[in-house]
Amino acid sequence: MIATVTLNPSLDRTVTVEELVVDEANRWTSLRRDPGGKGINVSRVIHELGGETVAYGFIGGIDGETLKHLLKQHEVPFDFTSIKGEIRSNFIITDLKTRRQTRIDAPGPHISRDELGKLIDKITHIKPKPDFLVFAGSVPPGVPDDIYRQLIEEARKSGIKTVLDSDNKWLKEGIRAKPNVIKPNVHEAEELLEVHLRDEAAIIESVKALVNRSIEVAIISRGKDGLIVANGEKILKVISPQVEVRSTVGAGDSTIAGLVLKLSQGHGIEEASRWAAAAGTAATLTPGTELCRREDVERLLPQVKVERL
Ligand SMILES: Nc1ncnc2c1ncn2[C@@H]1O[C@H](COP(=O)(O)OP(=O)(O)OP(=O)(O)O)[C@@H](O)[C@H]1O
Ligand SMILES: [Mg+2]
Repeated sequence: MIATVTLNPSLDRTVTVEELVVDEANRWTSLRRDPGGKGINVSRVIHELGGETVAYGFIGGIDGETLKHLLKQHEVPFDFTSIKGEIRSNFIITDLKTRRQTRIDAPGPHISRDELGKLIDKITHIKPKPDFLVFAGSVPPGVPDDIYRQLIEEARKSGIKTVLDSDNKWLKEGIRAKPNVIKPNVHEAEELLEVHLRDEAAIIESVKALVNRSIEVAIISRGKDGLIVANGEKILKVISPQVEVRSTVGAGDSTIAGLVLKLSQGHGIEEASRWAAAAGTAATLTPGTELCRREDVERLLPQVKVERL
């Protein structure tokens, strides 16, 4: 079983307008609400791919109830920790004429010490013990910046493998606890390592450096250029099939889901990387906030090229 932790879930509201005009009243042509938050996305994809998962994290308010309702509709299991505040709402405006997307993200509710304590207690006592704990996304106000470091250290004490997918200070602090797997994109890796990744050689050096810092599997994702993957034994270049992209939202989360699902089933790094790239690429085929579909992942799998460097 793969447990995911989303400290800062959201209810994402996507509206489409024929043409966005600022300073004017605009009329939307469609509105959808989706569960948001990177860990929750990973759980949704693992479920879609036939794996077992439970989503953990904070939930509160009317939007929190709506998020739970949507997850139930998708049949994604969850065990959230209730908070007094309301989860955040992110807004995405899609302009149908220019196809440009405008996002307006919220920081999230304030979490009390008591609420944080309850969540830590819950995820350190998950039974049966999950194969992997995936920590993903931003951290809401009130929660210390080194929260992922604390949680990864707790998981290690219980013998649970961990994945960290975050950015900025949360990634920098969290990585000090040596999570088993990380998958920054190029921009996140540049910030983390304080380097400029101008070409492939520099990216390869960076995954090696991360493995040398005791990360078991270090991956840098490169959008349409696929992935560079390293563990203690090998370095792989994973080339995604070229497809007609509709929306890249959730590509990274789908990548992590494909990877971790296969690792948890005992597959080697090549096979897991192949699933990672197929799931990430499949996510780009679906519109808006939709994640990947299983049939697309299975169709793309044989088209992913995995080269050993
Ligand atoms: N345009 C694309 N064409 C084909 N595959 C893609 C494209 N964009 C992403 N992918 C696939 O998805 C993977 C993850 O994408 P990316 O590197 O953009 O992740 P990310 O920045 O973490 O995304 P997210 O915004 O979801 O966090 C890529 O390594 C690739 O396999
Ligand atoms: Mg990402």
